[in-house]
Amino acid sequence: MMRWMRWASRLKRRWIKGEDTKPHTIPQHVAIIMDGNGRWATLRGMPRIAGHHAGMKNVRDIALAANDMGIHILTLYAFSTENWRRPKDEVEFLMGLPEEFLHIYLDELAEKNVQVRWMGKSNGLPPHTRRAVDEAAEKTAQNTGLILNFALNYGGRHELVQAARKLAEKVARGTLKSEDIDEARFSEELYTADLPDPDLLIRTSGEMRLSNFLLWQLAYTELIFVERYWPDFTPEDLKQAILTYQTRKRRFGAL
Ligand code: FPP
Repeated sequence: MMRWMRWASRLKRRWIKGEDTKPHTIPQHVAIIMDGNGRWATLRGMPRIAGHHAGMKNVRDIALAANDMGIHILTLYAFSTENWRRPKDEVEFLMGLPEEFLHIYLDELAEKNVQVRWMGKSNGLPPHTRRAVDEAAEKTAQNTGLILNFALNYGGRHELVQAARKLAEKVARGTLKSEDIDEARFSEELYTADLPDPDLLIRTSGEMRLSNFLLWQLAYTELIFVERYWPDFTPEDLKQAILTYQTRKRRFGAL
């Protein structure tokens, strides 16, 4: 190989691994709304489910890149409480993806020290889907690398309502005083109780809305919207989003 080619390939590896991002401001927690699978497929004359399948493969690439870059938590919006309104075939296909994904990639992820988790409404998930994600979570619980957190049958409003309900039950039972409910205590009833809020949210496909994702947790998160459809979103795009994030001044309401 010629010298310049070796140099270019080393540079590309460094770029993908995020080595020229500022390590002290790598976002700890990145959340992604993986949008545009359907349009990606339609554009290619393929059925929508082909887009979801390509999107599933991309989850592996982006998770490994995030792990390499030193991101601690990657929360991915894989299925919302509203996605049940889609045609039955598409819903069934989407519900099969976690199983397929883990069947193909879990060993590789576990080898790279990735911890798999999921959050969402367990009620309503098909047993095979639940079993696959629960088993993966159990198998990787001791891993200390990236936390790959799937939001599955997740809805932000539902999460808030169930937190309010749990607190109300504790007050009714007399185990909690209503005056002791503050933001920190409220957060403890959310799925993300043991996780920091996302520093960065990325939504692909050019849409600019939150779609009921992490409504509480995104209060001070930096938002980045990218045009690319999710199956086309590359580790370089992730790196670019992090570079943009690193130019933002986070003030958390202060001056
Ligand atoms: C939104 O695109 C995407 C989804 C509703 C599903 C996202 C799921 C994946 C990317 C795969 C998940 C993988 C695992 C491992 C669980 P859309 O269908 O709304 O796209 P469109 O807006 O172009 O129609």
